[in-house]
Amino acid sequence: MLLGVNIDHVATLRNARGVNYPSPLEAALVAETYGADLITLHLREDRRHIKDDDVFAIKNAVKTRLNLEMAMTEEMLTNALKVLPEDVCIVPEKREEVTTEGGLDVLAQKEKVAFYTAKLHQAGVRVSIFIGADTEQIQAAYDAGARVIELHTGAYADAHTAEGREYELQRIRSAAEFASNLGMTVNAGHGLTVQNVGAIAKIPQIVELNIGHSLISQAVFLGLPEAIRQMKEAMYRARGSI
Ligand code: PXP
Repeated sequence: MLLGVNIDHVATLRNARGVNYPSPLEAALVAETYGADLITLHLREDRRHIKDDDVFAIKNAVKTRLNLEMAMTEEMLTNALKVLPEDVCIVPEKREEVTTEGGLDVLAQKEKVAFYTAKLHQAGVRVSIFIGADTEQIQAAYDAGARVIELHTGAYADAHTAEGREYELQRIRSAAEFASNLGMTVNAGHGLTVQNVGAIAKIPQIVELNIGHSLISQAVFLGLPEAIRQMKEAMYRARGSI
């Protein structure tokens, strides 16, 4: 199982002071050295954390893979075709949200998803769709040409009761099985922590987790290398590989 380390919030901290540290580039390199299997970042339309220059600098420096999360806008497509990350994860984006609140509504914009997916595939970029655990949405993503999904684990992470968590977990399990049966690669992410990652890591169809906020938060106390080590240990233990 792979861990994508999302370094957006290193940029959040940097931007709070308008200086050039902490450096997201340095975070990407440290993360790779200490176990990140890929580097994930989200260039938001309002550039609230990652900036355009960060994307280019990090793409040029990473030795693993760059996974660029982006909304379906012309500007972002132009950017992605210039940067040529190994992966693009298409996410819904609302300016007023604090974080990406739900999965992409593929059913409502299938042709647009098909257009963006085809353009990126033509450029050799693998396309993943950030999606809720909903079989109709997954089928629509498949029909639009995507062969990778990232299941949104936010509702699972935010559930306040054991029943609610189990309900969301079951939806994610079924969605992962459905997508895998279509031949899709299944990733997951959002809201995952060392405490809640185990149940998601146990789902056999899920091959990659993208984790940001909790890792960068833990890095304040432990340092990024130790935060990554603890996360990978929790993932691998759940998976039965340690
Ligand atoms: N995956 C996607 C597609 C996201 O948009 C985000 C948040 O930027 C994450 C994973 C990481 O979520 P978190 O920061 O809650 O770990």
